[in-house]
Amino acid sequence: MSFDFFVPCPRGLEAALAAELAEIAARHLNGAPFTTGEQVPGGVHFRGGWTAGMAANLHSRIASRVLLKIAQRPYRNEQDVYALALEQRWEQWFSANETLRVDVTAIKSPLRSLEFATLRVKDAVCDRLREVSGARPSIDTGAPDVRVFAFLTATDCTLYLDTSGEPLFKRGWRLDKGAAPLRENLAAGILRLTGWTPGTALYDPMCGSGTFLAEAAQVALNVAPGVERRFGFEKLKQYDVSAWQALKVAAQDAKRAARSSRAADLLIFGSDISGDMLDKARANFERAGFSGLPLKQVDARGMTPPADTPGILVANPPYGERIEVRGRGPRGEVRATGRAAHDERDEGFRRSHAETPDSEFFQALGDALKQRFTGWHAFILTSDRKLPGQLRLRESAKTPLYNGALECRLFRFDLVAGSVKQKPAS
Ligand SMILES: C[S@@+](CC[C@H](N)C(=O)[O-])C[C@H]1O[C@@H](n2cnc3c(N)ncnc32)[C@H](O)[C@@H]1O
Repeated sequence: MSFDFFVPCPRGLEAALAAELAEIAARHLNGAPFTTGEQVPGGVHFRGGWTAGMAANLHSRIASRVLLKIAQRPYRNEQDVYALALEQRWEQWFSANETLRVDVTAIKSPLRSLEFATLRVKDAVCDRLREVSGARPSIDTGAPDVRVFAFLTATDCTLYLDTSGEPLFKRGWRLDKGAAPLRENLAAGILRLTGWTPGTALYDPMCGSGTFLAEAAQVALNVAPGVERRFGFEKLKQYDVSAWQALKVAAQDAKRAARSSRAADLLIFGSDISGDMLDKARANFERAGFSGLPLKQVDARGMTPPADTPGILVANPPYGERIEVRGRGPRGEVRATGRAAHDERDEGFRRSHAETPDSEFFQALGDALKQRFTGWHAFILTSDRKLPGQLRLRESAKTPLYNGALECRLFRFDLVAGSVKQKPAS
C-alpha cells in the first residue's frame, strides 16, 4: 500500500532534499515503492509505502519532518475545515488514549484567525474520536503522542498526520546547545550544497558546538541521523513494525561499525576561539557516535589550512556581539577582546573593554582566506549581504537559505590560485 507524504525542510534546500530522498530510496528500500513528487517552497512531496516513510525519518539529514497526507479539499471557512477533519478516520491511526497537538500553517488563507482554525481542527479530531470510541484525547502542546497538521492555501485545506514526533533536526545527541548552534538539518543541507564528499578535507574555523563537523562525520561514517531517537510513527496504531526493526537494526549495526573507525582520519577539522565551545563539540561528537576529530583553539583570523590538499571551508560566523578576538594582555596572557567574550570560564580568556569592529574582523578573515587558503572553496552562511565586501572577496555564487525565519545567504568563494577575485570594501 502506498501513501502520499510531504517532507518539509528549511527553505532553499528543496532540491537538495529531493536528491537525498531519492538516494535514501535507492540505498535503503530494496525496491519498496517510492516516487519523488513535486518540490514546493519549504518541502518535497513523495509517494511510497510505510517503509519509505520510516526510512525518510531515519535517514534524511535535511528533512524537518515527514508528514503523512490524510486529506485535501477546497474550503472557504472554518466550518469547511472542521467538516473535512471530522470526516477523517483518525481512529484507524490513534486512539483517545493518545495525547494530541494540532498545528495550522497558512499561505494566503482567507481565514481571519489561525488560532480559531486550529481550535476547529482540534475539535473535529476530538469529536470524531468521541463519536467512534466514546472518549476524547487530551491536548498536550509540549510533548504530544500524536500531531496533526493542517495546511491552508488560498483555496485548499490539507490535513497531515505527523510521523516524526520531535522535529528531525533533533538527532538525539546534542548535549549542550552552546551559543546559537545551527540546526542540524540546515547544516546537513549546506554540506550537500557545498558539494563536499567524504575524503575531501572539510574545515569549520568557527565550529562552535560542531554542527557542520558532526553532520559531516556522520555522513562519512554512514551513521543514520535518527539512529539515536524515537519517532512519532512508533505511537501510531498501524505501521510496519517488522520493516521498522529491520531498518533500525541495520542503522544500529552501522553506528557500531563507525565506533571502530578512526574519526581522526576523516579529514574533518574544526577550530573556534572558545575552548569551552570546543569541549561542548567534543561531548556532542562522543554522543553522536565518534571521537577524535581534530579540534584546535584558534582565532579565525590566524587560521591556517588543516590539511595538505585544499578542500572545503564552511562556517557561520558570529555577528556583532558574538565576535571575539584574541589578544595579548598587559602581562602577556592570552585574552579575548570584543563585545562579548562569553566564555568567562575559559582558561586564558578574560573580558576586556577593547572592541574590534566586525569590519576589521571580517577584513582579517578575508585576508586569511586569500593568503593561506589558495585552492580551497569557502562557503559562509550569513544574514549580512555585505559580507563579500567586508571580506574584500567576490563571491562565485550566493544561495538564499532560511535559518528559521531569518533570511540568509550561503556565499561561495573560490580561492583559486592567482585569480582570487578581490572586491573593494562596501
Ligand atoms: C554562530 S556560532 C557558530 C555555531 C556553530 N556553527 C554551531 O553549530 O554550533 C559562531 C562561533 O564563532 C566563534 N567565534 C567568535 N569569534 C571568533 C574568532 N575570532 N575566531 C574563531 N571563532 C570565533 C564563537 O565562539 C562561536 O562558537
